[in-house]
Amino acid sequence: MSEFSSKVILITGAASGFGQAIANAFAKKGASLSLVDKDEENLNKVTEQCKKAGANKVLAVVADLRVEDNIVRAMNETIETFDRLDVLVNNAGVCKLGSVENVPIDSFDSTFHVNVKAHFHFTQLAVPHLEKTKGNVINIASIVGEMPTPGAIFYGMSKAALIYFTKSAALSLAEKGIRVNAVAPSGCDTNLLNWPESSQPGISMEEILKFYAKDQPLGGINIEKQDVVDAILFLASNSARTITGTCLAVDRGRLLAGSITKLV
Ligand SMILES: NC(=O)c1ccc[n+]([C@@H]2O[C@H](COP(=O)([O-])OP(=O)(O)OC[C@H]3O[C@@H](n4cnc5c(N)ncnc54)[C@H](O)[C@@H]3O)[C@@H](O)[C@H]2O)c1
Repeated sequence: MSEFSSKVILITGAASGFGQAIANAFAKKGASLSLVDKDEENLNKVTEQCKKAGANKVLAVVADLRVEDNIVRAMNETIETFDRLDVLVNNAGVCKLGSVENVPIDSFDSTFHVNVKAHFHFTQLAVPHLEKTKGNVINIASIVGEMPTPGAIFYGMSKAALIYFTKSAALSLAEKGIRVNAVAPSGCDTNLLNWPESSQPGISMEEILKFYAKDQPLGGINIEKQDVVDAILFLASNSARTITGTCLAVDRGRLLAGSITKLV
């Protein structure tokens, strides 16, 4: 029996990419899941996958995280359904490409709303429940939060803020026995740039991944979703009981190779 089989895990952005992989991994461990996303069709598919994979119980909450009431509803439904929360994975994210000269200014609000404010709000609402279970929070950041990346200026700024929030929350919630950590992936082939609110026409995820892989210490092009899943399973587990406030790069050493002055 896995240590997660008696636990409740809330995952935002669970309908796609890393979130889908994280949900399936916890399902295989027999956890109960609260899966949150705005994409109802894919969320329902992932819910069915997780039930088949061995999840104890799965709740799907369709919610747009740019709407504060939706966040409150997602947390309320989770607690009403399971009466506890052990792990909060703040994973949902959007990425609008663009530099200081050309990024659309209105994408600032949507980027920060999803990538920072929603994670802050979920964490704030989760505190009383995580205090009871001595649970933990994992924020999905990015190496660009620690490595200035001019072509993804708002995205990088939002991830830097998320890393700051991770460390600050780790300090203030330690006395309640709540751990807060982040995972910072490098490039991985997901839908991140495929949504209307994200990508800039003309640059594919494949081109970006190849460009950024230059000088990568461990070689290769991108990381796999499973690499991020493994890091999260570790940070969420009792094996990481002494770890809080860390931002674990899952990046083939890419962060060490440093910034590139333009996107492609
Ligand atoms: N793919 C990469 O290269 C990469 C690298 C580093 C970090 N990340 C981070 O990983 C996380 C997951 O992204 P991904 O790569 O799996 O991309 P993805 O697009 O496949 O998944 C993101 C999910 O978030 C959901 N989402 C977006 N806006 C939302 C909103 N307003 N309300 C509710 N749900 C919303 C989407 O519907 C989607 O299911 C993000 O935080 C992203 O910034 C990705």
